[in-house]
Amino acid sequence: MATPKFKRAIVVGASSGIGRELTIQLAKQGTSVVAVGRRMDRLAMLAESADGRVFPLQHDVTIYDSVPLAFQEATKMLDGLDLVIYASGVMPEVGFHEFNFEKDKAMVDVNLLGAIAWLNLAAERMEQTKHGSIVAIGSVAGDRGRSGNPVYNTTKAALATYMEAIRNRVARHDVKVCLVKPGPVATEMTANLGIKNAMPVEEAATKILKVADKNGEFYLKFAHRIAFFIVRNIPSWIFRRLKI
Ligand SMILES: NC(=O)c1ccc[n+]([C@@H]2O[C@H](COP(=O)([O-])OP(=O)(O)OC[C@H]3O[C@@H](n4cnc5c(N)ncnc54)[C@H](OP(=O)(O)O)[C@@H]3O)[C@@H](O)[C@H]2O)c1
Repeated sequence: MATPKFKRAIVVGASSGIGRELTIQLAKQGTSVVAVGRRMDRLAMLAESADGRVFPLQHDVTIYDSVPLAFQEATKMLDGLDLVIYASGVMPEVGFHEFNFEKDKAMVDVNLLGAIAWLNLAAERMEQTKHGSIVAIGSVAGDRGRSGNPVYNTTKAALATYMEAIRNRVARHDVKVCLVKPGPVATEMTANLGIKNAMPVEEAATKILKVADKNGEFYLKFAHRIAFFIVRNIPSWIFRRLKI
């Protein structure tokens, strides 16, 4: 087996979807991975199928006080750290006329505050060790304030700004900070949305790992780079009239 790009990684949100597939592909490449999530049965199954390279860690990212201990435990298990991927996320269904604070708070708690709780620690450690990559899964949904699910959009936009700011802090210490912005990917999150042409999760994970050691923001499709450049620059009064 060739030397892996990353020897030791933490994947937060590894029990299903994109995070699970990232964990599988990293382990196949020879990376030791601490797989974090609440559903321990899923994480244990993942570990069983991964030749001793995956170490499950049960953790709820919304219990913010417990993040430092979980982070410490994970780095201890790995005896170091080269990569942290934050893939935890929730996107409850929100009706077009629904303004539901509980659902909104759940998205802010997991998609944004959980990311900050984990990635602050990663940035602080990597700034000191002058080595490592930090990856967060954003979304094309963060590029504009769309009417369908306002707070999901908000969490992804805020995550992008946070990642840019962290990058601007730690890049001088040779730490890479990467935000990926997938379009629809076929996972549990999108299973009931009837989306045609969602990207297979295997393809999404492969593309994410290709850019995981780079600084910057990355779309997973070349067409999205162009399409969302246009979308980001449509004047607000026109965007309001479009059904996108
Ligand atoms: N699927 C898409 O089309 C798409 C597109 C763009 C971006 N994304 C983003 O990609 C990321 C992964 O989504 P996915 O599609 O792979 O969805 P998924 O299959 O539903 O996976 C979500 C992951 O988040 C974890 N999670 C949720 N709440 C958590 C909590 N309180 N504590 C710890 N972990 C928690 C889940 O683990 P437990 O439930 O076991 O805790 C699970 O591992 C999300 O940030 C999503 O916004 C997805």
